[in-house]
Amino acid sequence: MSIADRLRTIPSLTGTAPDLDALPSDPHDLFTDWLGTAVVGGVPEPIAVTLATVDADGIPDARTLLLKDVDERGWAFAGTASSRKAAQLTANPAAALSLWRQPQMRAIRIRGPVVQASHEECQADLAARSPQARATVPPGEWRVWRVQPQRIEYWQGSPDRQHIRIIYGRDGDGWTRTVDRGENAR
Ligand SMILES: Cc1cc2nc3c(=O)[nH]c(=O)nc-3n(C[C@H](O)[C@H](O)[C@H](O)COP(=O)(O)O)c2cc1C
Repeated sequence: MSIADRLRTIPSLTGTAPDLDALPSDPHDLFTDWLGTAVVGGVPEPIAVTLATVDADGIPDARTLLLKDVDERGWAFAGTASSRKAAQLTANPAAALSLWRQPQMRAIRIRGPVVQASHEECQADLAARSPQARATVPPGEWRVWRVQPQRIEYWQGSPDRQHIRIIYGRDGDGWTRTVDRGENAR
């Protein structure tokens, strides 16, 4: 069997979507809501996200990271100053984050410019890591960055393909919200 044929036999969207509560006007409130549902539902590693960046030649790259914080300042992640992601963010200070919570058929996706957090914040984040994790970081190397999203998409899948996509767009100091269903949410 070819790889393509084999891939076609593997089921997808096999999770169970929780009920969708009333949608808040602030996208961060929906993040908190969905995170709580994921934790209560036992979703494994619900803070693992894919970070996509672009290098100086315009070639995309992506890797898995842990989400560190989400608030009006942006969506925070951390890593070392000598990493490829750090070089790519210096060349192109913009990124996308994407996460998929398979058991609940929920995905979250954001994109926007990236800013580096202050030295104090980087130090505080490093200090909060376990001693073993801290020991792997050379002195002065730890960095925290924030994606400042212009667009935040929450996607909830449905076995009957009547998926729901909730899109928040930056609008001055606030957010617009649109909801697509069914064919428009594919
Ligand atoms: C679940 C998981 C969590 C991870 N968390 C981090 C993290 O928070 N920070 C980090 O720099 N790398 C983390 N990594 C390792 C990255 O995926 C990646 O290998 C590393 O950051 C080097 O990427 P780069 O060469 O693109 O900079 C994690 C990997 C996995 C699978």
